[in-house]
Amino acid sequence: MKSKASAPGKVILFGEHFVVHGASAILCAIDRRVAVSAETVPQGTVSIKSGMGEFSGSPEAGLAEVDFPLRPLFYLAKRLAEKHGRRGGVSVSVESRIPPGAGLGSSSACCVAGAAAISALFERPNRDEVLKLAIEAERTIHQDSSGADCTVCTYGGIMKYSKGDGFARIGSGAGFRLVVANSNVEHSTGAMVSKVGQFKEKNGEEFSRLCSAENGLVERALPLIEKNDLAGLGKCMAENQELLEAIGVSNERLEGMVRIANEASFGGKITGAGGGGCVLALTDHANVQSTVSRFGQKNIECFSTEIDFGGLDTF
Ligand code: MEV
Repeated sequence: MKSKASAPGKVILFGEHFVVHGASAILCAIDRRVAVSAETVPQGTVSIKSGMGEFSGSPEAGLAEVDFPLRPLFYLAKRLAEKHGRRGGVSVSVESRIPPGAGLGSSSACCVAGAAAISALFERPNRDEVLKLAIEAERTIHQDSSGADCTVCTYGGIMKYSKGDGFARIGSGAGFRLVVANSNVEHSTGAMVSKVGQFKEKNGEEFSRLCSAENGLVERALPLIEKNDLAGLGKCMAENQELLEAIGVSNERLEGMVRIANEASFGGKITGAGGGGCVLALTDHANVQSTVSRFGQKNIECFSTEIDFGGLDTF
């Protein structure tokens, strides 16, 4: 039995980190995907192949025996084989067009596509079940995940998300393009989330003020997305960047990239956990190419991307 699924990566327009602590966020799936193929095999091993490494071993192995990037897939193979009482093994392979460790949802998309492909070996899963499994798998490497990234990688499009209220689709007529510039400094989402947790512990009142400011920004951004008011939206993104700087997830390199985004496009900010990873520039068809060129002139790797409205796809 063989199956295959793919899921898109994502950017966060508003609310990364604050969403972990209950605030709202706005996320958008992008047109770069991870595909996961799965196959049942007679020998009783779990084997995983991806650009991030390889694993082959007994399903009895503990999670700690599997390297970080492959751990969620091992978890899924083991959990689903156990659930369906399968004795033989599972072989999984990953093809990704999303740079890893860059805040673009490569590991969430892998969890979503992996949950769908491995489940499909045993049953026909629906998107809600896939999402639940994907979040469990993601938590094997990033314990405090808000679930936002896996949610947008599953359903695609643009959405408002909070841990309390789940997701609501927005912006079906959105007309923006995004330029994603990569600092090429890899980051660990889990480490950045713990850093913000420490900031919150030391600065409780300040942090709750910043969370309220983030919620306010999200509420201001929603009608701007609906009206396709990119100038207004760009200003809100610049304000969001200030909130991210206040919680210590920015740095000089990222701020230099944000300055380029602000000069070339409607506005820019870090997207994802920060520390390294990517900066986002909000553009339309008129300034997308000039924004790409501005980053190029400074030798910063970047690409333009569109919204993926499809989400999880199973073959
Ligand atoms: C990472 O893409 C987004 C964070 O808010 C973590 C999370 O939501 O789980 C930093």
